[in-house]
Amino acid sequence: MEFTTDVFSVFDKKWALLTAGNKDKFNTMTVSWGGLGTIWGKSVATVYVRTSRYTHEFMDDNEYFTVSFYPDEYRNVLSVMGSKSGRDIDKMNKSGLTAKELPQSMTFDEAEVTFVCRKLFKQELKTENMLPEIASRFYSGDAAHDMYIGEIVEIIK
Ligand SMILES: Cc1cc2nc3c(=O)[nH]c(=O)nc-3n(C[C@H](O)[C@H](O)[C@H](O)COP(=O)(O)O)c2cc1C
Repeated sequence: MEFTTDVFSVFDKKWALLTAGNKDKFNTMTVSWGGLGTIWGKSVATVYVRTSRYTHEFMDDNEYFTVSFYPDEYRNVLSVMGSKSGRDIDKMNKSGLTAKELPQSMTFDEAEVTFVCRKLFKQELKTENMLPEIASRFYSGDAAHDMYIGEIVEIIK
């Protein structure tokens, strides 16, 4: 597996789609918080999902998830996927993206790269363990984030 990127900007500036489920039932949302790294001797992707997101249910119910990155021309699509909930609209039909079934999960044909991730770990980011300035800035009245660490089992380019 080979992949080279600027880890400090790939999530923050480029954004990604986080997708979980299977072809009969899946959901996707935009993420800009995340990481790529190493733990337990494995290459991993880490994402942070507020418990209020519809995608959160899919993250909990499925062993695999995907993190996929897109060319700049899909910026508007990622904006929609990051502002509307799959609970309220049919995101797939509104997106203009083409769903692509993988053996373990789902992604989209338009992705320039997809990380297929096997969920290894989940934990709530508890406000009591954060600096107060972070807790008050990001969690005053907003749902907690759960952190998911996924082993990158495949990189599809
Ligand atoms: C640029 C951008 C980045 C986002 N990053 C995250 C993130 O890292 N974690 C998160 O929980 N929500 C994030 N969101 C918000 C979700 O994408 C948004 O609430 C989405 O509508 C949830 O969809 P769902 O309810 O179908 O899961 C982001 C939104 C945008 C526009």
